[in-house]
Amino acid sequence: MNPAGSLLSADNLHKSYGSTPALDGASFSIHPGEVVAVMGPSGSGKSTLLHCLAGIVTPDSGTITYAGRELSAMSDAERSALRRNEFGFVFQFGQLVPELTCVENVALPLRLSGTGRKDAERTARHWLERLEVDTVGAKRPGEVSGGQGQRVAVARALAASPKVVFADEPTGALDSLNGERVMELLTEAARSTNAAVVLVTHEARVAAYSDRDVTVRDGRARDPEHAV
Ligand SMILES: Nc1ncnc2c1ncn2[C@@H]1O[C@H](COP(=O)(O)OP(=O)(O)OP(=O)(O)O)[C@@H](O)[C@H]1O
Ligand SMILES: [Mg+2]
Repeated sequence: MNPAGSLLSADNLHKSYGSTPALDGASFSIHPGEVVAVMGPSGSGKSTLLHCLAGIVTPDSGTITYAGRELSAMSDAERSALRRNEFGFVFQFGQLVPELTCVENVALPLRLSGTGRKDAERTARHWLERLEVDTVGAKRPGEVSGGQGQRVAVARALAASPKVVFADEPTGALDSLNGERVMELLTEAARSTNAAVVLVTHEARVAAYSDRDVTVRDGRARDPEHAV
């Protein structure tokens, strides 16, 4: 089922890797502009849930609905267009392209969805400024600090105005001061553009930036908003 008003929802997902169940009846939903923290112990299925919601991993059973459409009913090309045009991603270690400058990294999602280089780089510079790292625009990721790199990764996730930002332990590699500032900037930026954020974290201080929490245990997400 698809809870009323939700932008993205998952219903009763199951996913196993060989004999290891990663998801065992997980349900989840998020509204436009909402920031939801997905919490739970290591190995409980948080990243698997995020990857399923983002259309990166296909569940063995269960349904995922984005803006009224089931992901499983889309072709691979449609799902990758969805990821490119509607979703933004931030991972634990940023995962920037090492050969590109920071401006080029942030401009990349825009370039991939057809924006010209000049416009894409102008938007990229704007986002680097908002994340307070405009000074590193011309550097390559190997030449910036961990905290700066993670801000660049957040700028990249937001630059193409996604409807949903998926963040998997986005501050896991940062000290607490840097982590909190990145969370502040990420949630502020998401709220100002009405992007929903699926935020995987095991840190309570990171979850404090969310509107609500969903706990995953043994592959089961307990989402009180997802009425069954
Ligand atoms: N690609 C994979 N191949 C095999 N097993 C996997 C794979 N991905 C996840 N698993 C297994 O599925 C279960 C859930 O993993 P998942 O990565 O979703 O947990 P997590 O909650 O994100 O953990 P962490 O907090 O450590 O990142 C674990 O038992 C894990 O070993
Ligand atoms: Mg994980």
